[in-house]
Amino acid sequence: MKILVTGGLGFIGSHTVVELLENGYEVVVIDALYNSSIDVVDKIKIITGKDFKLYVEDVCNKEKLDEIFSIEKPDAVIHFAAYKAVGESVSKPIMYYRNNLVSTLNLCEVMQKYGCNKFVFSSSATVYGDPEVLPITEECKVGGTTNPYGSTKLMNEMILRDINISNPEFSVVILRYFNPIGAHKSGLIGEKPNGIPNNLMPYIVRVATGELEILSIFGNDYPTHDGTGVRDYIHVVDLAKGHLKAIENMKSGVSYYNLGTGMGYSVLDMVKAFEKVNGVKVPYKIVDRRPGDIAECFADPSKAYKELGWKAEFGIEDMMRDSYNFILKCKEDK
Ligand code: WQD
Repeated sequence: MKILVTGGLGFIGSHTVVELLENGYEVVVIDALYNSSIDVVDKIKIITGKDFKLYVEDVCNKEKLDEIFSIEKPDAVIHFAAYKAVGESVSKPIMYYRNNLVSTLNLCEVMQKYGCNKFVFSSSATVYGDPEVLPITEECKVGGTTNPYGSTKLMNEMILRDINISNPEFSVVILRYFNPIGAHKSGLIGEKPNGIPNNLMPYIVRVATGELEILSIFGNDYPTHDGTGVRDYIHVVDLAKGHLKAIENMKSGVSYYNLGTGMGYSVLDMVKAFEKVNGVKVPYKIVDRRPGDIAECFADPSKAYKELGWKAEFGIEDMMRDSYNFILKCKEDK
């Protein structure tokens, strides 16, 4: 079976390509290298011992996309390629709406033209907005997104649902990720955002290596067990395996699954766990809340277990160890 993976050199995309190759799938990657690096190609080949085709193209370029489909004729698509920085989406909404929506529209049009009817979409827990109930199930209300990035994920879900209504042959699995962190155990691939990281984990590892001086904890007056924000952190390899299960269990219609561990950890929990596992201090200071942040968010992942036979296997210690191992390896290779 040939799977076309858009954004396949990115953080989650590259880990998913590794799992696909290791499970005997043929893989074709389209990646524009906006937020990824070409050296990930060799890293994937070293990890898996397998080869795959790469097209350095933008999924928003419909002519190029059509050309690729005419050559490759994939059986299914996993669509990761999107801009994903929450803060940047607030300052550049047009860029986010155009890129994140046109890429999906192009893909769906070209897929149907070439009879490719299996679509796995990379969505996000952000579609739930500020959750009314916890843990979050797939039946929870969506909407109330607090930034254009989250809104593009929600709009894409609506687009895919409407396309399926117009063409029941076009099957969709929507995977709503909670907070992906960690890295492949080899330390060859992981999360390496350009510039100052927005997300917690990449920031913590850079403070641990001394690249950044101190972690700012955005508020300790939330209604949580220690006042700091609680999230459901999931190992990126667990997330990657969830995509395999989605492909293997694809059924007609549109299916939604929360990919989380079901465990919530606070920012202070994360700092303490990181220090304990890696034996390194992470200095921090408490500052004001970050606008748009919610207090608490964690999944009820039981539907993915029931219907896909998937559940997260890695614990918080694995995530801490693998995140740090990756960044240390990056520094070694410099
Ligand atoms: C986690 C916690 C912060 C940085 C975002 C996107 C979401 C998904 C994951 C793509 C919060 C606190 C953070 C820092 C801090 N991405 N924090 N100091 O905001 O839960 O989710 O990334 O799908 O869509 O919204 O993740 O890592 O930014 O924050 O105190 O320097 O860490 O307040 O409580 P978030 P995050």
